[in-house]
Amino acid sequence: MQKGIFITFEGNDGSGKTTISTKVYETLKNKGYPVLYTREPGGIEIAEQIRSIILDPNNTEMDARTEALLYAASRRQHLIEKVLPALKQGKIVLCDRFIDSSLAYQGVGRNIGMKEVFDMNAFAIEGHMPDVTIFLSVSLKTGMKRVAQRGNLDRMDQESMEFHKRVAEGYESVKLKYADRMVMIDAEQEMEKVYEATLRQVEEIIKRYDKRTVS
Ligand code: TMP
Repeated sequence: MQKGIFITFEGNDGSGKTTISTKVYETLKNKGYPVLYTREPGGIEIAEQIRSIILDPNNTEMDARTEALLYAASRRQHLIEKVLPALKQGKIVLCDRFIDSSLAYQGVGRNIGMKEVFDMNAFAIEGHMPDVTIFLSVSLKTGMKRVAQRGNLDRMDQESMEFHKRVAEGYESVKLKYADRMVMIDAEQEMEKVYEATLRQVEEIIKRYDKRTVS
């Protein structure tokens, strides 16, 4: 039986997900929570290798369904090798992106269809959905501005504004469809405020879900 808590972080590019989730992870770890931080695509060797294929800006020929399959393949391996064993040990797993990203980016961004992408992912995840999803909400304008400041842009970052607009629309549908597990954070604020709000929410989730994990 699953004992841990599976918390995913989602949001458009430039929402600050990685900065915030790693900072929340460090704080929880220092407070003595049994917490694991990981990310998608990646988090383990095989999935990191798949990540570099997907994000390589030279792979301009990649077909949309090939891309969706590669994300799902990396998801499967990462889930089996890292996430599920940690949950079994009672850990709080903080995962930067999961299936919602595929629904928004491949389902809507790439026009494959959310249902098609969900069904294909169902094979990969065998019912293991997140317990809670922290959604960092940012406007397209702010998100794109932050991405542009990063320098090295990967194959997804280099996509058109139209693509990123569709991804944002995709996330709107995901938020409605899975409203029960969504926790919304205003990521338009300065990063310190976003961090504080996220930490507060995550600590509440931990209390609510599993009092056993609080030291
Ligand atoms: P990252 O920048 O958050 O590490 O993610 C890499 C890129 O991959 C980002 O642009 C979002 C994209 N992505 C998808 O398109 N589908 C997915 O299923 C996942 C996990 C990420």
